[in-house]
Amino acid sequence: MATATHIHRYVLTDEDRAIFAKLPSNSKQQYADKVTEWRVGLTEAGQQVNAGCTDSVVEYYSTYQFPYSAYYMNGRVIAQIVAESVSDKQAKIIDIAAGTGLAGIELRKRGFVNIDALEPAHGMIANIPKNTYGKVYEEAIYKYKPTSISNDSYDCATIAAAVGPGHIEEIHIPEIARMVRPGGTIIFDIQEDEVEPQNFGSKLDAKLHSLRETGVFTSIMKHKNMYIYDVEDNIVYTLKVAK
Ligand SMILES: C[S@@+](CC[C@H](N)C(=O)[O-])C[C@H]1O[C@@H](n2cnc3c(N)ncnc32)[C@H](O)[C@@H]1O
Repeated sequence: MATATHIHRYVLTDEDRAIFAKLPSNSKQQYADKVTEWRVGLTEAGQQVNAGCTDSVVEYYSTYQFPYSAYYMNGRVIAQIVAESVSDKQAKIIDIAAGTGLAGIELRKRGFVNIDALEPAHGMIANIPKNTYGKVYEEAIYKYKPTSISNDSYDCATIAAAVGPGHIEEIHIPEIARMVRPGGTIIFDIQEDEVEPQNFGSKLDAKLHSLRETGVFTSIMKHKNMYIYDVEDNIVYTLKVAK
């Protein structure tokens, strides 16, 4: 059983730099303000009743206005790490919190052909390019009830740019592990600026550690990546499912 950390896995390409050059100057601040609002809301509520999927989060993404798809990097990074970790291009992949399909598009570019999606915000789903996914589950992952996806349905689960406060939280990881077959892989990222507030990163790590101790995962790998989404770093987790 191992936990390992690797640094600087993803290197920005010229295409990535061109994407950043198009970033509207105020868009990042608008989004940061929204995340702060969700955090405050969750704190004021005292506890996270529907942890990870408030109506506000889904409503926000359903009406997302700015040209989101143009510059979100995380899907590219996640797809790259899937390509390095999963050799079978026929592998069944579930892209969780798929948004407008950015990770799915990048997985297809890398030859994966069997990709489904789970995403609760209808407005995001409406912008997924045709043929990106096989099935799209229009559902959220909730704390207290399982999704409609059967046990062990997938070889791999991806979550790009959606693990963080008010989104997918540590409490949801067992439900994601349930969907992935023994020996399968879960790959997700977390922005470095999400690690500190409300101890999100340490709560996540503690939960992953306890799931490894109880035999849900055999290994937990962390890759730190530079300059994802403008100038921030992110950390990609690769979990091997044991069960
Ligand atoms: C920043 S977007 C990322 C979308 C996409 N993965 C990408 O890389 O572009 C976050 C997404 O998480 C979804 N989301 C938030 N909470 C969720 C939950 N509990 N279950 C499933 N999806 C959730 C939102 O609806 C939104 O589409």
